[in-house]
Amino acid sequence: MISKATIDKIFSTIRVEEIVGEYVQLKRAGSNFKGLSPFHDEKTPSFVVSPSKQIWKDFSSGKGGTAISFLMEIENFTYPEALRHAAKKYGIEIEEDKREYTEEEKQQQTDKELLYKIHEVANDFFQHQLFDTEEGRSIGYSYFKERGLRDEIIRKFQLGYSPEQKNAFTEFALDKGYSKDILEKSGLSIFPDHAQDGVDRFRERVIFPIHSFSGRVLGFGARILKNNVKTAKYLNSPETEIYHKSNVLYGLNQSKQSISKHNLCLLVEGYMDVIALHQAGIENVVSSSGTALTVEQIKLIKRLTENVTILFDGDSAGIKASFRSIDMLLSESMNIRILLFPDGDDPDSFSRKHPQEYVENFIKNEARDFIDFKAEILLKEAAEDPIKKAEAIRDIVKSVAFVTNALKQEIYLKEISNRFGLSEQSLFNELNVQKQIKNQQVSAVQRPAVANQVKLEKVADVFETVNPLLILEEKLVELMLKYGDRVLDRKDEEDQAFQITVIEEIIAHLEEDSYEVQSPLNQKIIEEIKSGISENQLRAGDFFKTLMDEDITGKVADALVEPYETSDWAKHQIFFSTEEEVLPKIVQDVIFRHKREYILKIVNDMKAELSETENNDETYRKIILLNQLRKQLDEKLYRIL
Ligand code: CTP
Ligand code: MN
Repeated sequence: MISKATIDKIFSTIRVEEIVGEYVQLKRAGSNFKGLSPFHDEKTPSFVVSPSKQIWKDFSSGKGGTAISFLMEIENFTYPEALRHAAKKYGIEIEEDKREYTEEEKQQQTDKELLYKIHEVANDFFQHQLFDTEEGRSIGYSYFKERGLRDEIIRKFQLGYSPEQKNAFTEFALDKGYSKDILEKSGLSIFPDHAQDGVDRFRERVIFPIHSFSGRVLGFGARILKNNVKTAKYLNSPETEIYHKSNVLYGLNQSKQSISKHNLCLLVEGYMDVIALHQAGIENVVSSSGTALTVEQIKLIKRLTENVTILFDGDSAGIKASFRSIDMLLSESMNIRILLFPDGDDPDSFSRKHPQEYVENFIKNEARDFIDFKAEILLKEAAEDPIKKAEAIRDIVKSVAFVTNALKQEIYLKEISNRFGLSEQSLFNELNVQKQIKNQQVSAVQRPAVANQVKLEKVADVFETVNPLLILEEKLVELMLKYGDRVLDRKDEEDQAFQITVIEEIIAHLEEDSYEVQSPLNQKIIEEIKSGISENQLRAGDFFKTLMDEDITGKVADALVEPYETSDWAKHQIFFSTEEEVLPKIVQDVIFRHKREYILKIVNDMKAELSETENNDETYRKIILLNQLRKQLDEKLYRIL
């Protein structure tokens, strides 16, 4: 952990124009600098850096922030990674929060370093074998050539070859002074009980190094060359102290820039699929390589984009197993589309048959949303059996229960309702049943994220794991940070036009209902905004970016990094051409929803306090009034959708 003092020092030392200047050619424009956006292809500069405010703003993508958030954006660093990078550049010594390491931890630390090192050595060894030995060239290299790979792509993925000799690498590494112990821990060598000499794990195979997000080699996948041999086609490194396969995605290091540039990640099944797509010029692709997708892997993707398209072999055995991945992606609030390749093709074979543009368009146009995808597969099975058909629809609604965003949930239900001619109300009831089932299944261990949040006791129990009031509160704060100073055109009750800023509208809503803010961090931000208003100042994102509060800047950076997606809506016949257009609707919608949840909470609190002995008439009257108010809100909300 970097100490608070160091963070403060970093923020007060670094210059945004210098850090940005390493990536963008900046020209002076008045008191600011201007340049071409590094996040967008453009001809007229729309990227502005303000030395006085120490912030940057990219008008083409809407992104903006501090020097640190720029590094996070352009290098895909995490917050601490960006801080360390900046500290290094300015020669600031990083002071860690003090804590003594135990002997065991120190040992683990050096083991880890050695494991990284030996993987580097092995990676060089395998590449050398492939290119510079006769055996490697005639067997390994020619295999890759047969599969149509060009040299530059073989180099890019650092592909290699492990020779037939059974201890070639082990001997090489022992000679270089690496211990048996570390060779064994790395999984690269195997020392069968008490035998003097170790043997290599990978023999007579082509080698695919597996890299971390930042490019360190963590392990290897190795493919057999002969198709007739009975052993497994692919052999992979075992779990080690540096390689945890559930935390790694193959190709992420080579693909990360393209993923964030296209704001889309393609997810394929195998090593060769990743490599072949790269060779075809499609570089935003990763693979979970033979394991079922995990939450950790989704989080890696989420650092770069929220949009995933899953590409399946036409005859993949794993299609139904994919339903689990779909639900997992949805519950990590990813937007997903799914594509099946035709007749036995996989991304590898398909991309070699067709030109790049054709493949790109195919992926873009043929990918379907999860509702269509599940519907097709499940309904085919159900044929004309009405019971099976109901089962199928229930299965689709089950996936919707995993969608975290209430707005999106409603849109999906609408889509299902249209598609199958079912009433939204019955689907909504089904959704709530599915949520209840889901919540019972989610065990306490699996929800640490929620455990940290302020817990509301009496919110409707279908939402046991998700606190909708808190989610909407987060949304309100996010809207103020992102768009606080935008001016909205509104009409009052007498239909008179007036203007109000996003901040004023949201604060007025919170004050009108004397709302109790749920999260301490939001409380802090709202207090700042309110004292801003009393000083006639609109404190939106820009104001908070320069505050030296790690929690707040983190939140602001998050808010600024994700502009509202308008593309998804068009599909549902709701057309907004720009963010400006969607904003007034979103602000109003979130306020209504928040109010609605707040009413629910108050009503629940009141019900809990009903007294058994005293006269409750007054309370009942209030509850009735509140429920009426909630109904009115519901009507307004449905009109919006
Ligand atoms: N896999 C594995 N172990 C196996 C088989 C497969 O780890 N015994 C993983 C590999 O990551 C592989 C992926 O599952 O890339 C997909 O398997 P498959 O479709 O059989 O492999 P392809 O990538 O199509 O392999 P190739 O094209 O080289 O035959
Ligand atoms: Mn294949």
